[in-house]
Amino acid sequence: MNLQVLDPPRDFVGQVAIITGGAGGVGTAVAATLARRGCKLCLIDISKPALDKALTALHAKCPGAEAYVVEGDVSDAAAATEIVRGVVARYGRLDVLIQTAGITGKTNTKTEDVDPANFDLVLRVNMRGIFCMCRAALPVMAKQKYGRIVNIASIAGKEGNAGMLAYSTSKAAVIGLSKTIGKEYAEAGITCNAIAPAVIQTAMVDAMPAEQVKYMTDKIPMKRCCELQEVTDVIVFAASRACSFTTGFTFDVTGGRATY
Ligand SMILES: NC(=O)c1ccc[n+]([C@@H]2O[C@H](COP(=O)([O-])OP(=O)(O)OC[C@H]3O[C@@H](n4cnc5c(N)ncnc54)[C@H](O)[C@@H]3O)[C@@H](O)[C@H]2O)c1
Repeated sequence: MNLQVLDPPRDFVGQVAIITGGAGGVGTAVAATLARRGCKLCLIDISKPALDKALTALHAKCPGAEAYVVEGDVSDAAAATEIVRGVVARYGRLDVLIQTAGITGKTNTKTEDVDPANFDLVLRVNMRGIFCMCRAALPVMAKQKYGRIVNIASIAGKEGNAGMLAYSTSKAAVIGLSKTIGKEYAEAGITCNAIAPAVIQTAMVDAMPAEQVKYMTDKIPMKRCCELQEVTDVIVFAASRACSFTTGFTFDVTGGRATY
C-alpha cells in the first residue's frame, strides 16, 4: 500500500501554550505535537537539567519551534503568577494551559500506613499545582475571551487505585476542579477539561517487570498500554479551537477500562 505522509495541520499558529511538567514523558510528547502545529511554547518543570534536555530534543524534532523553559514549582502560587506574567510579557498572550506536572508519591501503601507528609506533598503538587496555574491563567484568558485548559487526571481519580491513596485522591480533585472551572467560565470563551488516562507506555513502564505491566494491562479491555501519541492526540484535541462545545468534561483514554 502506498501511504502518503501528510503534513500536520498548522491550526495553532498565532497561539501560545504553557505546558507544565514539560520535561516529562507526556509533556515532551505534547510539546512536540503542538510545536509542529505552529504553537509557541513555554515549558515548566521543577527540574532545570531535564528541561534543557527536553528543549534540545524539541528543537531536534521540530527545527524552528518557538519555545522556552522555566524552572518552577507549579504549587507555589506566587511562582505560578510570575510564570504566566512572563509568558504574556514575552509572547503577548496565553491561549492554552496544559497541566501534566504530577507525582505519584509513595505507592503500594495501605491507607493506615500512609505518611501524612507524603499525602500532603502529592496533593500539593497534583491538586494545588493545577489550581495555582489555573488561578494565574484564567484572568489572561478571560480578557482575551479565549482559552483552553487541559488538566491531566488519571483513571485512578475515577476508580481509586488500591495502594495509591494520595494519588487517587489528588486526581479525583483534578476532575472536580475542572468541572467547576468549566462551569464558571463557560460563557467566557474558555473551556476547561480533564484527561483520565490508564497506564501510558513511557520509559517508566518500559523499565517495569513484564508481570507488573501485565497486571496493569489485564484491567484494560484492549489488553495493552496507551501509546504516548494516543494520549497526546486527545490532549491536543482538548487544547484546540475544535474543542469548542465541551467543557468540565473528563476525556477517557483507558482502552475501554472506563466507559463513563
Ligand atoms: N504515565 C502514566 O502511565 C500516567 C497514567 C495516568 C495519568 N498520568 C498523569 O499524566 C501526567 C504526566 O505523566 P508522565 O508519565 O509524563 O510523568 P513524568 O514523571 O514523566 O512527568 C511529570 C513531570 O512533572 C514534573 N513535576 C513534578 N513536580 C512538579 C512541580 N511541583 N512543578 C513543576 N513540575 C513538576 C516532573 O519533574 C516531571 O518532569 C501526570 O500528571 C501523571 O499523573 C500518567
